[in-house]
Amino acid sequence: MESSDRGRAWLDSTDPYQQIRFGILTISDRASSGERFDSSGPSLVELVESNGWRVVRTQIVPDDLLNLHDTLVHWAETGEMDVILTTGGTGFGVRDHAPEATRSVIERPAPGLAEAMRAASLKITPHAMLSRATSGIRGQTLIINLPGNPKAAVENISVVLPVLPHAVQLLRDDPAAESGHR
Ligand code: MTE
Repeated sequence: MESSDRGRAWLDSTDPYQQIRFGILTISDRASSGERFDSSGPSLVELVESNGWRVVRTQIVPDDLLNLHDTLVHWAETGEMDVILTTGGTGFGVRDHAPEATRSVIERPAPGLAEAMRAASLKITPHAMLSRATSGIRGQTLIINLPGNPKAAVENISVVLPVLPHAVQLLRDDPAAESGHR
C-alpha cells in the first residue's frame, strides 16, 4: 500500500470504527433564553456531518461557569462522545467562561489545537487575538473551544479537522494509530 493510500485508509469515514462522535455545546445566555437564534451550533452540526461523522448530542446552555463545568463533566463521562465542541464564551466579556470551565474539567491540556486555530485565524482577522479558547482531554474525550460567531466557529474548527481522526485513534488507544505517524 502506498503511504498516501494508508493515509486515506485511516481517514475512511465509512468505517464504523473511524466514526467520530461529536457533542456540540452552544454557550450563550441569549440563545439559551430564546432571545436569539443559535446559528453556530447548527453550522457546526452541518460541517461535522458533511465529513461523514456523527453528532450524538447538542445543547444550548447559558454562560454560567458551574453549569458549564457540570455539563462538560457529564458529557465526557457518558463515553458517548469522542470530541466535544463548545461554541461561544471564549472572548473578554464578563460572562465569557468557556475556557475556565474547560480548564476545570480537562485532565490533560492539548494546547496545540487552540494554538493552531489562533495562528490560522490571525491571518483572517486581528480579532483572533481576543480568543481565549483552550483545548484538552478528559478521559477519552477531547474538548475544543470555538468562538460564538458561526463563521468564526467554522473557520476555527476547519483548521483542526484534518487531525481529528488520528487524535481520536490515539485517545481510543487504537493500534492502527501507528499508521498515522508519518
Ligand atoms: N477567529 C476567526 N477565525 N474569525 C473570527 O471572526 N473572531 C474573534 C475571535 N476569533 C474571529 C475569530 C473575536 S471578534 C472574538 S471576540 C473571539 O474570537 C472570541 O469569540 P467569542 O467571545 O464569541 O467566543
